[in-house]
Amino acid sequence: MKIYRTSNYLEMSRTAAMILAAQIQLKPDCVLGLATGSTPIGTYEELVRLHRLGYLDFSGVRSANLDEYRGLDRENEQSYYYFMQHHLFRHINISPENTFIPDGSQQDPDKECARYEQTLKQLGGVDLQILGLGHNGHIGFNEPADTFPKATHCVSLTRSTIEANRRFFEKEEDVPRQAYTMGIGTILQAKKILLLVSGSDKADILKEVITGPVTPQVPASILQFHPDVTVIADEAALARLDA
Ligand code: GLP
Repeated sequence: MKIYRTSNYLEMSRTAAMILAAQIQLKPDCVLGLATGSTPIGTYEELVRLHRLGYLDFSGVRSANLDEYRGLDRENEQSYYYFMQHHLFRHINISPENTFIPDGSQQDPDKECARYEQTLKQLGGVDLQILGLGHNGHIGFNEPADTFPKATHCVSLTRSTIEANRRFFEKEEDVPRQAYTMGIGTILQAKKILLLVSGSDKADILKEVITGPVTPQVPASILQFHPDVTVIADEAALARLDA
C-alpha cells in the first residue's frame, strides 16, 4: 500500500483527480470504478473543472459504480444514480450508455446482481477504482461480516451505516435498509485502487485498515493484499498512524 498524505480535503481531492486524469490520458477508453458518499465529491468537482478547461476528454471513458440502494429508482434524489448525474456525469462529456450503476429499482436481487457482474465482465474489468471508507471499515456497501463477499450481492445495511447515511435523507425511516454492491472479490479485480479518506472521524478506522489484521470484520483491511493500492488521505485521517 502506498500512502499519500495531503494537508487537507481539497489537496486530497486534487491529488485524486490528477491520478484519474492521468489514467484517462494514458487510456482514453479506460474503465473507472466510481464511488459515492461525501468523500469523492471534491474529486469529481476537480475533474469537472479540468474538463471545462479543455484538459480532459471523457468521450471514450466507461464507468462502473460500486453500489446503489435497493428500492430507490433513478429519479429519486437520494439514489446513487442521481448523485452521479448531479456531481459528475451531467457536467462532463461521458456518454450515458457508457455509465453503469446497479439498478436499485430491480426487485429481484439475484437477477440484478448477476446482471451487474455480467456487465462488469463485458467491460473487461476496472482499470482504476476509487473507494471511500465507511466508519465501520466498509467499502462499497460491504459491511463487516464473517466472510468476504465475492461478487455483487444484496446487503442489509448495518445500523451504523443507516445512521451515517441518515444525513442525506429527511427522516431515518427513509434510509433504505438494503443495497446492491460490488463484492470484495469484484473490487479486488480492479487493476489499481485509490482509497480516499478525509477527516479525524476516520482516523481510528483508517489505522485499523492499514495496520490491523486482515479480517472481514474490517472489510477494507483486505486492501492490504491488493498489489496496487494508493491511500490518499489528509492529515486528520492519518493522525492515528503518526502515533
Ligand atoms: C456509503 C457508500 C460508500 C462510501 C461510504 C463513506 O455508505 N456506500 O461507498 O465510501 O458511505 O461515505 P462518506 O464518504 O460520506 O464518509
